[in-house]
Amino acid sequence: MKIYVPRDAAARALGADDVARAIADEAARRGLTVEIVRNGSRGMIWLEPLVEIERDGRRLAYGPVDATDAAALLDGALPCHGTVEDIPFFARQTRLTFARVGLIDPLDLADYEAHGGLKGLRRALSMTPADVVAEVTASGLRGRGGAGFPTGIKWETVRKAAADRKYIVCNADEGDSGTFADRMLMEGDPFTLIEGMAIAGIGVSAAKGFVYIRSEYPDAIEVMEAAVRIARGAGVLGASVLGSGPAFDIEVRVGAGAYVCGEETSLLNSLEGKRGIVRAKPPLPALEGLFGKPTVVNNVLSLATVPVIFEKGAAHYAGFGLGRSKGTMPIQIAGNVKFGGLFETAFGMPLGDLVNDIAGGTASGRPVKAVQVGGPLGAYMAPAKFATPFGYEEFDGQGGLIGHAGIVVFDDSADMLKLARFAMEFCAVESCGKCTPCRIGSTRGVETIDRIARGDSSAIPILTDLCETMKDGSLCALGGFTPFPVMSALTQFPEDFACQKEAAE
Ligand code: NAI
Ligand code: SF4
Repeated sequence: MKIYVPRDAAARALGADDVARAIADEAARRGLTVEIVRNGSRGMIWLEPLVEIERDGRRLAYGPVDATDAAALLDGALPCHGTVEDIPFFARQTRLTFARVGLIDPLDLADYEAHGGLKGLRRALSMTPADVVAEVTASGLRGRGGAGFPTGIKWETVRKAAADRKYIVCNADEGDSGTFADRMLMEGDPFTLIEGMAIAGIGVSAAKGFVYIRSEYPDAIEVMEAAVRIARGAGVLGASVLGSGPAFDIEVRVGAGAYVCGEETSLLNSLEGKRGIVRAKPPLPALEGLFGKPTVVNNVLSLATVPVIFEKGAAHYAGFGLGRSKGTMPIQIAGNVKFGGLFETAFGMPLGDLVNDIAGGTASGRPVKAVQVGGPLGAYMAPAKFATPFGYEEFDGQGGLIGHAGIVVFDDSADMLKLARFAMEFCAVESCGKCTPCRIGSTRGVETIDRIARGDSSAIPILTDLCETMKDGSLCALGGFTPFPVMSALTQFPEDFACQKEAAE
C-alpha cells in the first residue's frame, strides 16, 4: 500500500513528520507493508497534514490528520474527501506550473519523467538557441517575481550579448509576506526548476546557474541541493545536458536574511560575496550581471513554468489568461481566510471571487475590510475594487499591483493606519541605505504617521508629499513601492486616519 504524507514545510509545521512516523509504526504493528512517500503539498493548508492512501488505483485524501489518527486511517475509518481532484478548491484550478507538486515524489527522477518531466528539455535540445528564446516570447510568459517583465525579451537581451561567459540566476529569495509559491515549488517539484534553468541555459548559451534561496527556507534548500545532486548523477546536468546537449550545471547558494537581497542587483552582489546593496540600473543584469557578465535573473516560478511551455507548446500556454497577462498564476491566499493555500488559475479571475468564493471569506466570519495584494509593498484593495480581474494591467489600472501574487485578507477589525505605519517601518528596517528617499524617508514616514495618529491633520499633506518623493526618487522597488500600501490605506480608509476626516470636513 502506498501512502502519501507531505514533506512540505507547512505540512511539517502542522505535524506531518509525526503522522508519517505514527503510520509507519501502526503498519509495522499490523505486519502491513506500506510505502510512505513524502510528497509536496497539494496546497490546501487548512487540510494539512493531508494524507493520501492509494486504493484501487485512486488516491483517497484524508485531512487534517493527527498522529493519533494512524489506526483509524489504516482501518479506513476517517472521513474521506474523495480524491484531491474532487475537492472544490483543487478542482477549480488550472495547474500548469504546479501540475506535479504534491502528485509526485519530489526526489524521484523516474516519477518526474513519468509525469511529463524532461519532455520540455528534450524538445529544447532539438532547437536552436534563437528558437528556444522565441518559444518563450511566444508563450507570453512574464516575470513572476513581481515586475511582470516579458521573460522572452529578457532572455533575448542575454542571448544577443557577446561574452565569454553567461549565467542563469534563479531568485528564490521569496521575501514577500503572504507568499510561499517558490518554497512549495522547490520542496514539491525541484526538478522542474532545474529543467527550466537548463532550458534557459540552452537559450542564452549559459553553462552555469545559481539558485539563491533565502536562509529561512531550510527544507527547500535541502530538497534543491539533493535534486541538483540527483540530476547531476543522472546526467541531466553536467558536461553535456542529457548526454547530447551543451554543458550546464547548477549551484545552490543560501542568503542571510535580508529582504532587499530579493532585489536582483542586491542578490547579485550577495552571490558575489559582497554586501547585499542595490546597484544602479543601467547597466541591466541582462548585460552586466553576475561578475559583470550577461545574466538571466528570473524568479522560481518564471523558470519553473518554462518546462510546461516547451512540453505543451507556447500556443497552449498563451491560450490561458487575459489580455497581456498570459497563462496561469500560482496565487497564494493567506491572512484571515477560511481556505488558505496555493491556487493556480488562469489570469482573469476577479479578486472578489478569489477572496469570497475560493478562500471562503474571512476565518473570523467578520466582513472583509481590505486585501493586500503583492506583498508588503502592494496596495490595499477595498471591496469596492473586488471586480478587478487578476492581471498585471488590470491591477495597475486600479492603483495596485499583483506582484508575486500573494493575497493577504483582513477583516473589519484591521486598523489601516497601523498597517500603513507597518509599511513604513518595514521599509525602514529593510532599507539597504543606498538612497536618501528610502533610508531617511521611511523613518520620517513612521514619525509622520504617528503625528496623524495623535490627531495632527497638518501631517497628512506631509505624508502624501513624502510618498511622492519616495515613489519618484528611490533607486529600487523597496523605497519606490512602499507608498502603495501607505497611500492606498490613506485614500480608501480615511476613517482610520481620523484627523484626515476632520481635515476634509
Ligand atoms: P524592474 O521593472 O526594474 O525590472 C524587471 C525585470 O526586467 C528585471 O529583471 C530587469 O533587469 C529586467 N529588465 C528591464 N528592462 C529590460 C530590458 N530592456 N532587457 C532585459 N531585461 C530588462 O523591477 P524590479 O525592481 O526587478 O522588481 C520589482 C518587483 O519586484 C515589484 O513589482 C515587486 O512586486 C517585486 N517584489 C517581489 C518580491 C518577492 O518576494 N518575490 C519582494 C519584493 C518585490
Ligand atoms: Fe536601498 Fe531603499 Fe534605495 Fe532600494 S530604495 S536602493 S532598498 S535605500
